[in-house]
Amino acid sequence: MTDVKVNEVGTRDGLQSIAAFVPTAIKKQWISDEYTAGVREIEVCSFVPPKLIPQFSDAAEVVAHALTLRGLTVAALIPNLKGAERALALGVHKINYVISVSESHNRANVRRSVDESAADFERIVDLVRNHSGHKPVVVGGLSTALGCTIEGKVSQDAVRRLATRLAQAGAQEIILADTVGYADPASVKRLFTAVKQDLRDMPLTAHFHDTRGLGLANVHAALEAGARSFDASLAGLGGCPYAPGASGNIATEDLVFMLEAMGLATGIDMEKLLAMRAQVCAALGEQPFHGAIARAGLPKGYAQHA
Ligand code: COA
Ligand code: ZN
Repeated sequence: MTDVKVNEVGTRDGLQSIAAFVPTAIKKQWISDEYTAGVREIEVCSFVPPKLIPQFSDAAEVVAHALTLRGLTVAALIPNLKGAERALALGVHKINYVISVSESHNRANVRRSVDESAADFERIVDLVRNHSGHKPVVVGGLSTALGCTIEGKVSQDAVRRLATRLAQAGAQEIILADTVGYADPASVKRLFTAVKQDLRDMPLTAHFHDTRGLGLANVHAALEAGARSFDASLAGLGGCPYAPGASGNIATEDLVFMLEAMGLATGIDMEKLLAMRAQVCAALGEQPFHGAIARAGLPKGYAQHA
């Protein structure tokens, strides 16, 4: 049994920030090794036009590989209905729909208004409901939920309205993302508490970037507000190509370290995670890697929660 769920998003959020195509074999090995370390949910790619982000032109092969790992929830990010059609055809378990709370970021990222994106989400829910094969879990992922590099402050009311709209449309989970690293623990606690009140039993995932060094402090605040699912990226790779200045996600290994140190079981083996992190970093070559635990090592006498 785990107390907290840690979801790897480096294979999507991390890789999309690397311009050079990363060989498919490296992506597959990364997924396999992280699964072996105990990670049970991985956002393995996004279904976007290969012309726009060539990094994910091998999405079909990566998904097919990930689906061979028993018990792994294979998630993919989708920006529109076409992405949902590809996701259904390939049989992923979860689709993370991306929609920004801020109008300008949504237009920059997916080239349409927030309202148009929300209407598309309703069509996606219908598409999934009418699909005769395996039905993926449909997730509403709210980008720029804690601030936007174009518009600055994002109002909590706007986040609540959009989360409620997606929930009413049929979202089964909601992600609240600090896409650009503007959040602080107080704003996180306020937002997560409010959305939790609005949506009751809806599973909430926190997706934090560590751009300004507050990523793990924000995790703690979200935990206090009742969140039990966290996105993170191995070695802190990541950043949205349409959010200037956005840097990496919180590092998976630092997140696991913090949660386990606090007595919260993640199901992830820290030693194996650190070993596979080193291999992924070596395979990816020169990149802006982050992570305090990889730099400093585990504390003397560190014993992982069994
Ligand atoms: N997967 C593959 N191809 C897709 C697609 C998808 N999800 N969505 C659209 N396309 C194709 C269309 O079929 C069309 O192909 P064609 O030129 O051969 O006819 C082409 O892409 C343009 O389609 P259109 O619907 O006009 O898209 P657009 O140019 O307005 O772009 C998005 C809209 C949403 C597809 C694009 O902005 C996008 O993918 N954004 C996501 C960016 C991202 O990943 N950001 C990081 C995540 S936070
Ligand atoms: Zn992100």
